[in-house]
Amino acid sequence: MITVKNLTKNFNSFSALKGINLRVKKGEIYGFIGQNGAGKTTTMNILAGLSRPTKGSCLVNGKDVTKIKHPSELHIGYLPEAPRFYPWLTAFETLEYLGNSGGRRVAAARIKELLDWVGLSEAVRRRVGGFSRGMKQRLGIAAALIHDPELLIFDEPASALDPEGRNDVLNLIKKLKNMGKTIFFSSHILSDVERVCDTVGIIIAGKMAAEKPLPEMLKEDILPSYDITLQKPIDSGILDKLSQIQGVSKVTGNELNLSVMTDAFFDTSLLFKFFVDNKLAVNSFARRQNRLEDVYLQEVNTNDKQS
Ligand SMILES: Nc1ncnc2c1ncn2[C@@H]1O[C@H](COP(=O)(O)OP(=O)(O)OP(=O)(O)O)[C@@H](O)[C@H]1O
Ligand SMILES: [Mg+2]
Repeated sequence: MITVKNLTKNFNSFSALKGINLRVKKGEIYGFIGQNGAGKTTTMNILAGLSRPTKGSCLVNGKDVTKIKHPSELHIGYLPEAPRFYPWLTAFETLEYLGNSGGRRVAAARIKELLDWVGLSEAVRRRVGGFSRGMKQRLGIAAALIHDPELLIFDEPASALDPEGRNDVLNLIKKLKNMGKTIFFSSHILSDVERVCDTVGIIIAGKMAAEKPLPEMLKEDILPSYDITLQKPIDSGILDKLSQIQGVSKVTGNELNLSVMTDAFFDTSLLFKFFVDNKLAVNSFARRQNRLEDVYLQEVNTNDKQS
């Protein structure tokens, strides 16, 4: 649904995008993550037809974004970073106005349904000028969906929302996927991205640092760690001996809960043997799951070292 090749964007002498490549496949949820100022909004504005690339090609819904006369030709639903509306219109009137643009008509029932969907059914007749940031964000999502587009581009859809609101929006994004839509969204809330995305792209300082299916991203080469809970408290002498096992790089924790960091090819039977030899009963033993945050921070650190 989106193919970006060697996309470059310069603002005068400043290069915001330095030749990025990315691909969003039909029917997937793609999470676009990166630090403040990495270039997420710049990329999304170009994909939405609101800003021209300096170089490179962008196909959105099969259309070249540099060849369109008006953003509406892309047939996408776009939620900008800070959606703005006419303050004197009500939520209903806003969607009516946006929905009936360009010679199209949208039924009142559809508008009500959408407002209900985004959790604004109580505010249908209220003026948008009095809306909170989170309410505007919800209205922005409804506005993006008004013409029922196949491709949705959401710039930070959940950032202005409270935890409950974030949960609502993530569920909504999942529902949209189940309806067959494709969603490309940016976020710096990594746990949100981890919860819903099929593919993750990391942008660092205008360059793509990684783009992979989420499960693959989480299999990145992060050194293994094991979390162990013991049945009885141990003394610090045992901790010292534990950290001397071959391949163990660090042991942290207290007398009952331990975390053991190891080399990449560590043989866990050495740990089990240690517990048996020292007559230590183990309640639980688990390899820690990689979190997107660990992978992301590793990418950022690598980039810092290189630059
Ligand atoms: N119109 C503009 N003129 C000059 N510089 C710009 C313009 N728009 C963006 N930039 C610069 O381009 C870089 C990327 O900005 P962008 O808004 O794309 O970042 P972002 O990844 O969306 O960050 P955030 O997480 O803060 O939203 C920043 O250094 C920004 O200052
Ligand atoms: Mg942004």
